[in-house]
Amino acid sequence: MEFLLSNPIFFFTALALVLSIFSVQILKWKLSRRKKKYPPIAGTVLQHLLNFNRVHHYMTELASRYKTYRLLAPFRSEIYTSDPANVEYILKTNFDNYGKGWYNYNILRDLLGDGIFAVDGEKWRQQRKISSHEFSTKMLRDFSSVIFQKNAAKLAYKMSEIATSNQTIDMQDQFMKSALDSIFQVAFGAEFDNMCESSEEGKSFGDAFDNSSALTLWRYVDVFWGIKKFLNVGSEALLRKNTKIVDDFVYKLIHRKIEQMQQKENSSVTMDREDILSRFLRVSNADPKYLRDIILNFVIAGKDTTATTLAWFIYLLCKHPSVQEKIAQEVEEVTGMKKIANFSEFASSLSEDVLEKMQYLHAAITETLRIYPAVPVDSKICSSDDTLPDGFSVRKGDMVAYQPYAMGRMKTIWGDDAEKFKPERWLDENGIFRPESPFKFTAFQAGPRICLGKEFAYRQMKIFSAVLLSCFVFKMSDENRVVTYRTMINLHINEGLEVRVFHRY
Ligand code: HEM
Repeated sequence: MEFLLSNPIFFFTALALVLSIFSVQILKWKLSRRKKKYPPIAGTVLQHLLNFNRVHHYMTELASRYKTYRLLAPFRSEIYTSDPANVEYILKTNFDNYGKGWYNYNILRDLLGDGIFAVDGEKWRQQRKISSHEFSTKMLRDFSSVIFQKNAAKLAYKMSEIATSNQTIDMQDQFMKSALDSIFQVAFGAEFDNMCESSEEGKSFGDAFDNSSALTLWRYVDVFWGIKKFLNVGSEALLRKNTKIVDDFVYKLIHRKIEQMQQKENSSVTMDREDILSRFLRVSNADPKYLRDIILNFVIAGKDTTATTLAWFIYLLCKHPSVQEKIAQEVEEVTGMKKIANFSEFASSLSEDVLEKMQYLHAAITETLRIYPAVPVDSKICSSDDTLPDGFSVRKGDMVAYQPYAMGRMKTIWGDDAEKFKPERWLDENGIFRPESPFKFTAFQAGPRICLGKEFAYRQMKIFSAVLLSCFVFKMSDENRVVTYRTMINLHINEGLEVRVFHRY
């Protein structure tokens, strides 16, 4: 981008090229218009780039004008829909026609390999089958709960220090560290302790992991990434360097685990660990590359999503103190505990049965995800010509995306108070959580590829929220700050969430 802007000749040649490609596209569209009805053109992808920092606002504006619209791109159209009937059609009814496609696979494979996020067809089906079985086991549920409880207590002790010393703290950063520790332990069964920043190797893994995700995302807007990769220069050289650090670290853990398992087998002692890697080692052959892809996809899936959601949640609670109080009250009623002195003991008492009773908390987290979905827009590639339920046609190769961020703000879906943070909208007259159609509330996707970690994520977010909100009160460090997102795959709070923390009692 910088290179482009600093070279006017190159910039104008590229612009002329892009404009001519668009003209051909418009001509082709005009010629074919008589036969089929394509979604209205709302602009070109250049507008996406020009609105990069406020892209979700921009897409929401377009979505409120057109339920389904089209942006012209050099080699295909990009179709965006916020119509629940279309969403159901692409995610479920005609699922096989809307996959990740070669386009996404090509961008993602250096980091994600053949992991569940990047692949379609048989490769996806196989991993989905084993993974959904593992995710539904009581073993993994119990194992993960203990880890979440431990890490939530650890965070509470840190909050206590912050409250006592009257400092401020970036909660998004804390949740990121904590979520990486949690998912890392659940995935590999290894202590990571990123929160305490005790391990140099662990810290460089954490940094390399974040850099690799950001550099992989950059490929979606950098049309020259393929050439840069071939020449191993710029962002692509950086990506290669960072993925190598990630890989070395992960392979080391995998080999160590294989050795441990072999030793245990030889000594006929049963394994006592129930981490995801151990489980996969038992049900699949021990190909380290296959394991690396599977496990790394889980770490990516489980880290930023839960951490950013918790950060937006705390932000919304700072803006709505009465909701913050109501949650603290619910936790107190359900657990019967008021003044909590021992955070670890309290966290350990948060069993699944206890969490299940926290219906208002469940509603408030869900309401956060409606307004600030961790995955704000999600795209598929159409593999053969098709017609959507609203009558608009789609061509083979077109990108078709549904938009959780824009959909969460549509009055046509949620009513006139769509933009209001209102956990009550999720509760019935008895205060019991009432789920919505996953084709309207799309934060976890829907259909056969619905998020596999949904229950897992709620368990983690509810444990962290229950511990933190029953012990502390959160306030923005700067009440006047205008908080917005940073454009990335996940919806991060731009520049973090600096808060003040007070002991509740
Ligand atoms: C607030 C938390 C979370 C949200 C909002 C969320 C949302 C999503 C979304 C939108 C997708 C579809 C992405 C795509 O198009 O490929 C997805 C897929 C997935 N999620 Fe989550 N996720 C969350 C947490 C987690 C956690 C904690 C895990 C596991 C540790 C997880 C595991 C997965 C997996 C494995 C898939 C791929 C499913 C497939 O392709 O069959 N997620 N999630």
